[in-house]
Amino acid sequence: MAMVDEGKRLTYAGYLRLGDLLGLQAGPDGHVPAPSPDEQHFIIVHQAYELWFKQILTELDAVVSGLGRSDVPEGDVPRAVRHLERVSEILRLLSAQWKVMETLAPQEFLAFRDRLGTSSGFESWQMRALELTLGLADEQRVEGVDPIGHLRRLHQAGDMPDAAMDDLERRLSSPSLHDVLLGWLQRTPIDGSSPGDDSDDTAVAAFVDGHLAAMRAHGAEVVKRMVAVGQGDPTALSGRVQAGVDAAEAFLRPNGQVHRAHAGLLYIESHRDLPLLAWPRRLVDTIVEVEQSMLAFRHAHARMVERMIGRRMGTGGSAGVDYLDATTKYRVFTELWAVRTMLVREDLLPEPKDAAFYGFAERR
Ligand code: HEM
Repeated sequence: MAMVDEGKRLTYAGYLRLGDLLGLQAGPDGHVPAPSPDEQHFIIVHQAYELWFKQILTELDAVVSGLGRSDVPEGDVPRAVRHLERVSEILRLLSAQWKVMETLAPQEFLAFRDRLGTSSGFESWQMRALELTLGLADEQRVEGVDPIGHLRRLHQAGDMPDAAMDDLERRLSSPSLHDVLLGWLQRTPIDGSSPGDDSDDTAVAAFVDGHLAAMRAHGAEVVKRMVAVGQGDPTALSGRVQAGVDAAEAFLRPNGQVHRAHAGLLYIESHRDLPLLAWPRRLVDTIVEVEQSMLAFRHAHARMVERMIGRRMGTGGSAGVDYLDATTKYRVFTELWAVRTMLVREDLLPEPKDAAFYGFAERR
């Protein structure tokens, strides 16, 4: 292990390697003339984004390796939440940072845009690493867009470092945050029962049935109230309630079989006042926050681009703003959003069984 040389002073610049860092804004080799103040600004903004992407990846990797264990110690959940809170804050900062980019007027950008050639943020391999680590699947991308294939071609042509390509390939074949989250949710104790327990199937099925019954009963009550004040047609309202219950049933029992991870998620969201479930619920909520921040980041980028270049084609050859707008539809954690639709007021739900298991003597 390298040791600190006792006789040598460690300076601020030495610790941060400022000499290296501040020498990296001159543009690529042979970039003549040297970047104007506007172009330097453009380079620095991009570099700052890439530095933050690096930190986000480090935080996400820590969460994936923590949650990916088959037995996650309780103390690891608050730690995962802290990592994810940092990711969210960084993404929020990055959303705001587009404002700095917007101080570049469209004409000022056009003055050096042609020097960018075909280079584009589309080629940011850290952005792709981030998407893969969250769990964005190829088939979820805008049709016909293949950023990983593009990066493989760049790598083959010698335009991307081996280490970056290896890292990307490793991420492609490793579990994502979405994968490990579902594995962890699958093990949620439901009414005190865990996977592998003798009567687990029965306990989980009873919870699912109880929840669907509560949804039906609440829906019927809502319809009755609306009809009583002449608000809407009873058949249409009942149809809407039934569609909600059917969607919940399909979520909880796809193909007729209980989906234990989905049931575990619903259990966590329904009984957040049970002490043992407080941190799991925060974890779920923080992941929703990360996804929301990511969508805001994509949206803010698209608006900045529209302001800067209008509807013209991107330097990477995409449709530009139309393409970027389409990426704002990407959702990785669809279950975490979907479950909100099927929540029922807590006092209408069946009492959780074995509340003592969750550190609670009495629920209400
Ligand atoms: C004047 C400033 C900018 C303009 C006009 C711009 C424009 C665009 C356009 C048109 C695309 C679509 C791909 C293409 O055809 O090129 C794109 C993609 C992208 N840009 Fe920017 N961009 C700007 C600044 C930035 C900055 C500062 C970053 C920070 C890293 C960035 C990151 C990205 C990323 C990650 C993508 C890929 C999005 C995806 O495929 O989901 N852009 N940009």
